[in-house]
Amino acid sequence: MNLNIVILAAGEGKRMYSSTPKVLHKVGGKPMLQHVIDVANKLNPNKLIIVYGHKGEQVQSTINDAFKDNSFSWVYQDKQLGTGHALKMALPHLDSTGATLVLYGDVPLINYKTLTKMLDSYNENVVMLTAILNDTYGYGRILRDETGKIIKVVEEKDTTDKEKDIKEINTGFYIFPNHLLPIWLNQLSNDNQQKEYYLTDVVELAHKSNKLIQNIATTTIYEIIGVNNKVQLEQVERIYQGILADTLLEKGVTLADKSRIDIRGDISVGQDCYIDVNCVFEGNITLGNNVIIGVGSVLKNVIISDGVCIKPYSIIEDAILGADSIIGPFSRIRPGTTLAQNTHIGNFVEVKNSKIGIGSKVNHLTYVGDAEIGSGVNVGAGSVTCNYDGKNKFKTVIEDGVFIGSGTMMVAPVTIKTGGVIGAGSTITKDTPENELTVSRAKQVTVLGWKKKQK
Ligand code: UD1
Ligand code: MG
Repeated sequence: MNLNIVILAAGEGKRMYSSTPKVLHKVGGKPMLQHVIDVANKLNPNKLIIVYGHKGEQVQSTINDAFKDNSFSWVYQDKQLGTGHALKMALPHLDSTGATLVLYGDVPLINYKTLTKMLDSYNENVVMLTAILNDTYGYGRILRDETGKIIKVVEEKDTTDKEKDIKEINTGFYIFPNHLLPIWLNQLSNDNQQKEYYLTDVVELAHKSNKLIQNIATTTIYEIIGVNNKVQLEQVERIYQGILADTLLEKGVTLADKSRIDIRGDISVGQDCYIDVNCVFEGNITLGNNVIIGVGSVLKNVIISDGVCIKPYSIIEDAILGADSIIGPFSRIRPGTTLAQNTHIGNFVEVKNSKIGIGSKVNHLTYVGDAEIGSGVNVGAGSVTCNYDGKNKFKTVIEDGVFIGSGTMMVAPVTIKTGGVIGAGSTITKDTPENELTVSRAKQVTVLGWKKKQK
């Protein structure tokens, strides 16, 4: 079928009390509108049209950045005169044959399978997605005739007391035949409580022109929740996180508590991984087999190989961690870091833009920045690669088998050659030779007979 999809996303979202346009508020780290576009793309539409309005430039630039090879068109709705008016703005872009599926930029959890069901049941008549709710407040109610046919949708503000009791509601998702849409949309009036052009009034027009309304009912209510305020945003976020956590559990990951993990991006996992409470995953995360992630760790764009153990409260970003490495507790691994297998990065150690070779250890209170460290190296506690002169950054090279004594300052650019040993407390400003002990520290003196001053 020739499928067009229109996403209505022009609303302002006053009740968010935010300078960010509503559809750019994030769920799982991704703007709500982006979620909806992702689902739409999965359906392979011939045309995808987004009706935007409020803070349009910001919406366009954020979304265009997220979809580099985007194949959708933007339609501007200057004044938000109602959902019917919004769809009408898209009319010039729609094909004359086929059908149009309407989605919403602020209903981010709509399920691909539900939309597929709607499309499968399309037979040149209107298809609408309905639901039975206990709390129907705010939704349009579905009116049926005595034979059970849907004849009309009544908006909350236009309902009679009797209609208010109807539990069947309009979710706002529909499929319309393209050749009839212009006829129906041009007949809409704004003669109602909200003085808006209601898209829902098309349902009555469709009924009157005998375009049988087929309804698909959803029982997964979360997928139709629209976000109008921060309460609903949080509600949708928690539901979404619950779904992601369940997916991890189904893939065999052990979670200490499925309600205390947040995923703001994509995570792929190997076998027998364990994730303790309060961990946050952002961007693209890959976990190998037998990975352990300790309490309160934050990981963003990392590749973690088999057998890695991340101890509690470690922050790791844009890094690759080699197999069987041990990180933390309280380690900070910053962008551009690659650790080979079996490395140990300990507490209060910061590593930035550095490569660390097989089996090397940086275990305590150390800064490693812009460095290349070979294999079998031991960097003692409290050492610093002094990589920055206030203007430029320089590189420190520590070759294989080197032992750096505690409290060593390595003033870059500098190379500590293979097998060298640096005495504790040294400040190294020149390259040091292979396999020799280098120390730079003032000689220790004892002042014999020195007396403490008396008070
Ligand atoms: C709409 C339905 C209601 C349904 C509910 C489901 C109408 C008249 N009512 O009500 O029957 O139960 O959705 O959530 O359609 N938008 C525009 N331009 C506009 C107005 C709205 O782009 O001029 C967009 C909004 O950004 C939003 C969507 O359309 O994404 C829905 O608009 P909203 O005002 O939230 O409709 P509801 O009052 O929730
Ligand atoms: Mg409204």
